[in-house]
Amino acid sequence: MKQATLHQLKVFEVTARHGSFTRAAEELFLTQPTVSIQMKQLTRAVGLPLFEQVGKRLFLTEAGKELLATCQDIFERLDRFDMAVANLKGLKQGHLRLCVITTAKYVIPRLLGPFCRQYPGIDVALTVTNHEQVVERLRGNLDDLYIPSYPPEHLDIQCHPFLDNPLVVVAPSQHPLSDRQRISIQELDGEPFIVRELGSGTRQAVEQLFATHGISMNIRLELGSNESIKQAIAGGLGISVLSHHCLALDRESSQLKILDVEHFPIERHWHLVYPSGKQLSVVAQAFFDYVSTEGREMIESNLA
Ligand code: PGA
Repeated sequence: MKQATLHQLKVFEVTARHGSFTRAAEELFLTQPTVSIQMKQLTRAVGLPLFEQVGKRLFLTEAGKELLATCQDIFERLDRFDMAVANLKGLKQGHLRLCVITTAKYVIPRLLGPFCRQYPGIDVALTVTNHEQVVERLRGNLDDLYIPSYPPEHLDIQCHPFLDNPLVVVAPSQHPLSDRQRISIQELDGEPFIVRELGSGTRQAVEQLFATHGISMNIRLELGSNESIKQAIAGGLGISVLSHHCLALDRESSQLKILDVEHFPIERHWHLVYPSGKQLSVVAQAFFDYVSTEGREMIESNLA
């Protein structure tokens, strides 16, 4: 491997990501034969095939998979080095990859505005997805920081709770239960319910609570987004359980009502999470510190 160059590793990483020499050539502004020659030389240096071709698509061999993980490691360390050097020069700059749970999308983008103004050299890629996918990305070490609301127990992680994320029962404002207080959870038995997709943390939390109290969920509709669920509730299709944060922007115009049901809200918390062995980059650390201090205060005052 001593003969392999950093450039070849970069070409390999892009080719592996696209599964295609042509697409890699496009991304790198190279010709397709140049990419393919670089990969032949790299294969020779490794001494084993890196790709196998099925139809038009390239798949990684075992050696290819090992090399991809190694490349990701090398590029991440080089990124960290760049950021550390910029930091020594008194600048915070670099790339920040965040992966947040769907409920956090109501607040994290708002925090990014002031954060990016404070650190104009930092650019951010934000992935918003459900619980299962956040855990998958955490397992694959694809991002710098993760914000789930239920940290996975089976992974070795650093986990810092920073804000409450209560889950509440939401109904259309004209629902017969909407003016009642202290509604018994049993009264939700059989109510037409709108649920999130499988893999959603919200859905899992509701299913667990209902199972504990022997309530059967009459699923009328399954939807993959909190926003569509709000529209479906307003449209009279049923009731649902959502994070209180999902409703924060609709306070005035709302056709929705939070029901006062016993055992609700389900108390959850957003956490800042990263794998235990991972050393946070300078920019990830800057975001971590920002969210735990000023950012958190800003959210709390918005909610007050
Ligand atoms: P979900 O997660 O998008 O997976 O439902 C929401 C949450 O756990 O806060």
